[in-house]
Amino acid sequence: MTPACPTEKQSCEAPLAKDQFATDVLRGLAQSPKRIPSKYFYDARGSELFEQICEQPEYYLTRTELAILEQSAADIAKAIGPRALVVEYGSGAGIKTRLLLNALDQPVGYVPVEISQSALDASVENLSEEFPEVDMLPVSADFTQPVDLPTPHKVARRTVVFFPGSTLGNFEQREAIALLRTMATEMGRDGAALIGIDLKKDTKILEAAYNDGAGVTREFTLNLLVRINRELDGDFDLARFAHRARYNALAGRIETHIISRSEQVVRVGTHRFAFAEGEAMLVEYSCKYSPQDFAAMAAKAGLRVVCSWSDLREWFAMQMLERIHN
Ligand code: AVI
Repeated sequence: MTPACPTEKQSCEAPLAKDQFATDVLRGLAQSPKRIPSKYFYDARGSELFEQICEQPEYYLTRTELAILEQSAADIAKAIGPRALVVEYGSGAGIKTRLLLNALDQPVGYVPVEISQSALDASVENLSEEFPEVDMLPVSADFTQPVDLPTPHKVARRTVVFFPGSTLGNFEQREAIALLRTMATEMGRDGAALIGIDLKKDTKILEAAYNDGAGVTREFTLNLLVRINRELDGDFDLARFAHRARYNALAGRIETHIISRSEQVVRVGTHRFAFAEGEAMLVEYSCKYSPQDFAAMAAKAGLRVVCSWSDLREWFAMQMLERIHN
């Protein structure tokens, strides 16, 4: 999953990935309460819809992060220093990657880490023309697992893991800490991570971002059922399910559920699953942080915040982390 901005999300078409999808869906539907991991939103249509979400007036995240990157590019580049090897979780090639590579002083290499080979190819093809001096070193892998990073031709002064888009927020706290630990290992002793996080704010603003007026987020959520029908021979009737995204202030996260509008039985392949009227199936968490929450979480992974850039309203932040102990 890859979550940073739009084009970074593509479907996993490999047979193994399809088996994993089937396993996770069947297991999730058999659970009580039912739940399906949000990484499965991103088939080709889901990726397109996510790009559209980023353009909705209510979805402030993408444009706010972009504005921070634009305004603070020089400061960020200064904090990172020259000759960085940029490792991006999710295949970038988006405008955020360009902004960062443009601002950095002689970056030596760019390593997108992403499962989908097609997404990787596209990202590297676009960027290599624009940044001929930067070694393009794509790695086809699941970034939640440790990967062996390729070595660029020119010696890197430090490795910087770039993880924009508040994608970290789609992981539960325990998983987010594990991912931060993986980053800490991958960046090495002198490395850093540059992470985009969405900050806590008024419930109305948060809920509007996940319930846009044009209904794009609703379609994005329910597209998961379309994908199950197509890829796993399911018979979900979309008219009998609804999208619900609410802010859980105690947990500090938007919780997105698919709600069954009636009592019904759904078939996936040869398996049948009963839904009660009003039953909620969890499909996504989008965690929101205070700077203190985030620093405490990072500390559990052995990282500390060394710099932070935010917008004037303090709706979103770009946090730079380094290891506490080298
Ligand atoms: C990719 N991720 C950070 C988005 C978010 O805000 O949690 C995915 C998304 N889900 C609904 N709208 C956007």
